Amino acid sequence: MGAAVLSDVLDNTIRDPDQVARLLNADVIGSLPAVKDWRRRLSPIQMQGQIGTGHNGNGNGHGHPAALAEVVENEQMLSNYEEAIRTLRNSILLTDFDRRLRSVLMTSASPSEGKSTVAAHLAATHAQQHKRTLLIDGDLRRPSVHRLFQVPNNVGLCDVLLKQISWLDAVIMTDSPKGLDILPAGPATRRASDLMGMGLAELIEEAAREYDLVVLDAPPLLGFAEPLQMATAVDGVIIVARAGDTSRKALSTVITTLARLRANLVGVVLNEVHREVSAGYYYYYGHYNKYYTKRSQ
Ligand SMILES: Nc1ncnc2c1ncn2[C@@H]1O[C@H](COP(=O)(O)OP(=O)(O)O)[C@@H](O)[C@H]1O
Ligand SMILES: [Mg+2]
Repeated sequence: MGAAVLSDVLDNTIRDPDQVARLLNADVIGSLPAVKDWRRRLSPIQMQGQIGTGHNGNGNGHGHPAALAEVVENEQMLSNYEEAIRTLRNSILLTDFDRRLRSVLMTSASPSEGKSTVAAHLAATHAQQHKRTLLIDGDLRRPSVHRLFQVPNNVGLCDVLLKQISWLDAVIMTDSPKGLDILPAGPATRRASDLMGMGLAELIEEAAREYDLVVLDAPPLLGFAEPLQMATAVDGVIIVARAGDTSRKALSTVITTLARLRANLVGVVLNEVHREVSAGYYYYYGHYNKYYTKRSQ
C-alpha cells in the first residue's frame, strides 16, 4: 500500500485497476495486454482460421528459429489479447441485470488509446457467440473500422445522418464471424459534430431493436463535441485508457464530463497493460516495452 501511494506521487499516469478505483472511483472492467505486431492478424475477419496457412501475403518466411520464436511470442500476445476481450465481453454482458446493455460507446481521453481496436475485437467476439452484432464507426473524422475489416468506406454513417441513405442499406454484412454487421463511417468529414446531432439517437434505438449488441466506436472525448452527443444516445459508455500513458487528470476529466451528461459509465478498459505475476500478485507496468520495441526495430 505504502509503495502504491508513493508511486502515485511519482507517476501521474494511470497504471492499474486499484489505482483507478481508488483515485477515480471508477471500475476497471478489462485489462488488455500489449500486442507487438498485429500484421499477421490485422482484422478479426482474418482471425477465422487463416493463421499458419502461409497465405498471409507478406511473403515473409519464418525459417529462422529467432523469427519463429518471435511469431510464437506474438501469437501468444494475440491470444492473450483475445482472451482479455472475451472477459471484457462477459463483464459487459453481465453488467446490468435488470436492463441489459444493448448499445455501448467506446471512447477515450485522447487519440490512439486503442478504442477502435477494442471496439472491433469486442464486436467480433460478441458475434462469435452467435449473437447479432452491429459495429458502427462513429469516428467521422478519422474513420478506421473499414480498414480493420477491409470493407469499403464509400458510403456510411455520414450519409445515413444526412438522410441520403437508410442505415439498413448502408450496413455491410460480414460472414466472418457470421452475425457481425458493420456500418462504416463513410468518407472523413469535418462536419462530424453537426452531423451527429442529426438522428444518431434514433439510429441507435432502431439498431438496438435489430441487434443483440451495438458497438459504437467514437473519437476521443476531450476536445470534440460529438462523443458527448453519442454518450447520451447509448446504454453504456466504456473508456479506453493506456496504462502508464493516459494521465489521471485527463481520465478524471472524461469521467466527470460523462457524469455531468448523466451518461452511464460502464467502466474503464486499461489497454497495453504489461502484467507479471509474482508470488500470486499481479504487477502492472506502463508501456515501456513499446519504446523498447521501437528502438530495437
Ligand atoms: N493492446 C495493444 N497493444 C499494442 N498496440 C495496440 C494495442 N491496442 C491498440 N494498439 C495500436 O495502437 C494504435 C492506435 O489504436 P486505435 O485502436 O486505432 O486507437 P484509437 O481508436 O483510440 O485512436 C494502432 O496502431 C493499434 O494497432
Ligand atoms: Mg479510432
